[in-house]
Amino acid sequence: MSDPTGSEPRNQSGTNPGSVSAGRSGGGSVSEPGDVSGGRSGGGSGGEPGGASVGRSGGEPGSASAGRSGAASGGEPASPSGGASGNQSAGQAASQSGQAASQSGQAGQAQSAKRAPAARGPAPVAVALDAPDLETAARWAALVTPHVSTVKIGLELYLRYGPDVVASVRGASGVQVFLDLKLHDIPATVAGAARAVARLRPHFLTVHAVGGPDVIRAAVEAAPATRVAAVTVLTSLGDGDLDRLGVAGPVGDAVRRLAVLAVEAGARGLVCSPQEVAAVRAEVGPDVTLITPGVRPAGAAANDQARIATPEEAVRAGADLLVIGRPITSAPDPGAAAAAVAASLRRLALSPT
Ligand code: C5P
Repeated sequence: MSDPTGSEPRNQSGTNPGSVSAGRSGGGSVSEPGDVSGGRSGGGSGGEPGGASVGRSGGEPGSASAGRSGAASGGEPASPSGGASGNQSAGQAASQSGQAASQSGQAGQAQSAKRAPAARGPAPVAVALDAPDLETAARWAALVTPHVSTVKIGLELYLRYGPDVVASVRGASGVQVFLDLKLHDIPATVAGAARAVARLRPHFLTVHAVGGPDVIRAAVEAAPATRVAAVTVLTSLGDGDLDRLGVAGPVGDAVRRLAVLAVEAGARGLVCSPQEVAAVRAEVGPDVTLITPGVRPAGAAANDQARIATPEEAVRAGADLLVIGRPITSAPDPGAAAAAVAASLRRLALSPT
């Protein structure tokens, strides 16, 4: 069965659903968006997660915590903050942010234990498939899906190839698909767009938090089986940019403000930099999936990412899903690079300190 020390590839080809390892099911299981570390279900076979609420039927959604079961049989671990329970609404979670923050001293330890990545199953990593063409994206996806929970499709690939790209990268592997479309328009248009892509059953879909609560709510309601993640402040923006845009800064304050606004409006995921994860976690509690780009394994090139952290640092800070692109996809062997990141996170899970 599972090999807690090895890379535990679930499916070496990434295409054969018959050789899935523990933690994935070909169908029939309840798939909970946000359960980033395991519990794969074949494309289209997962159940509805119960609308826009965060009622839990399976394990612990929204975190990369150990103790996830692949199937929907996992229990609900005790809430580390003592505030947010698994069945509360996202709004409740946000409204308890003060409590969560005030308890951060006690909660810190428990949360870091809870936030340790699973020692088994695919790693809580979304590989950014920023490929020049569909064939390359599909090849990268097949190479990495034995090792990671999620593949991310960005705007460029989606606009070039449309919905077909989702089927191409998903293959038969059941890997979670993260549609990073960063929707930003009036609520009716975002609702229509979210409805249009909901039929592709993406696990995650991004919207811009600055669109406001009605936009976020519209996306959540239009795509109830998808975990809508709100982008807080783009990592390309600094304090001076916010000033020119007339947005109250500094960036850290704006990120926290937008995070709370988004969660109150029903977002069950947030995108923020690794540097902001701990502060955002304290604001929104444990049940929101925190997604961090700007992750670089030690020694990897920073490329154009300014505020970076290693996978281990990001998870320790409270990240649930690490977005990693070029360090994996530009490696001579993307499968091996993904396996190495997965192994580093497993080591962290086995030895969290
Ligand atoms: O190659 P790299 O690891 O830098 O890829 C990061 C991915 O995360 C890219 O797809 C990029 O668009 C995305 N992203 C980001 N910063 C954000 C939001 C998304 O780098 N704030």
